[in-house]
Amino acid sequence: MRKIQMVDLKSQYEGIKDAVNVGIQEILENSTYINGPEVHRFQANLEQYLGVKNVIPCANGTDALQIAMMALGLKPGDEVITADFTFAATVEVIALLQLTPVLVDVDPATFNISVEAIRKAITPKTKAIVPVHLFGQVAPMEEIMNLAKEHGLYVIEDDAQGIGADYTFSDGTVKKAGSIGHVAATSFFPSKNLGCYGDGGAIFTNDDELAHTIRGIVNHGMYERYHHDVVGVNSRLDSIQAAVLNVKLPKLDAYNVARKNAAKKYSSALANHSNIITPVFSEVENSHVFHQYTLRIVDADRNALMQHLQSLEIPCAIYYPIPLHKQKAYIDVRYKEEDFPITNQLVEEVLSLPMHSELDDDQIEFITSSILAFLKK
Ligand SMILES: Cc1ncc(COP(=O)(O)O)c(C=O)c1O
Repeated sequence: MRKIQMVDLKSQYEGIKDAVNVGIQEILENSTYINGPEVHRFQANLEQYLGVKNVIPCANGTDALQIAMMALGLKPGDEVITADFTFAATVEVIALLQLTPVLVDVDPATFNISVEAIRKAITPKTKAIVPVHLFGQVAPMEEIMNLAKEHGLYVIEDDAQGIGADYTFSDGTVKKAGSIGHVAATSFFPSKNLGCYGDGGAIFTNDDELAHTIRGIVNHGMYERYHHDVVGVNSRLDSIQAAVLNVKLPKLDAYNVARKNAAKKYSSALANHSNIITPVFSEVENSHVFHQYTLRIVDADRNALMQHLQSLEIPCAIYYPIPLHKQKAYIDVRYKEEDFPITNQLVEEVLSLPMHSELDDDQIEFITSSILAFLKK
């Protein structure tokens, strides 16, 4: 059996090696390192894939979130609601821009932001909601968009983990994650479902005016060379990363199917065990692209199980071990423990298993049988 990796980028590279090497070699020959044709090609390819009018590439997913918030003109003191159970980048940029983060609890079945909790957190100062498509599952966008419309709020999708997933509205309309809110941000960090070989990110929007603002912000606030009309940043996707992404984008759906197949195999082996809650997802809709496959371990020692798996060289991880409202940087007297019962419980129970496009049946069998053997004890 091949050594099990949490994310197996090396094996994935083997399948695309020639195309990636040619793409990178071309850039080395042409010296078009910044803003080369590969970047424009990727932007157009991704616009087509997502069905979104504007993709603006940038340096990473954290920048993408920050730039989206800058472009919306959010001002210090404006409240931005996001999930307590997610990676810190989301709340970090809210705080950096001196906006007021408002963390809310999540849904125990999907781990995604709770619409009820959002509703309760809205005040006259609320300006935006940032749903995160956590672990690859699309947040309840129809309800969130309706709520946002009712209260005149912006919706910024954090699509760092959900690229390629679909969302089906109650009237049957299907849209890609990242094409639903007013603006969306994604990351091409290597381990992401669509990852490059360094840092990368992008902002998506169907609003042409907002896209124009964003194109200036990513480039030092310039709309005309050396005319700095707004305060901007320097945030670029470099051509070598775009060349990698141009090879990987046409394979994204196949990579996501491979992830989903692995998830189904995990779930069929692990469902029906009283100590395990397997992730909820619809097989029909492509609403989960399994950036992570995350179990809840209940009435059993999750940490001992994790150590046991690691002793067998099965990598696994706790995403995320500490709720954001308890992180030193984001502690605030406004937060009450009773407002976060689900996140507080999830951080004690979650366990993410190896998840990538290259998992094989022997590896999945070894992982699941090792979990079951441990829990039987
Ligand atoms: C949910 C979420 N948002 C934002 C980010 C930030 O992306 P990046 O690492 O490219 O800055 C990540 C990446 O880890 C993420 O998982």
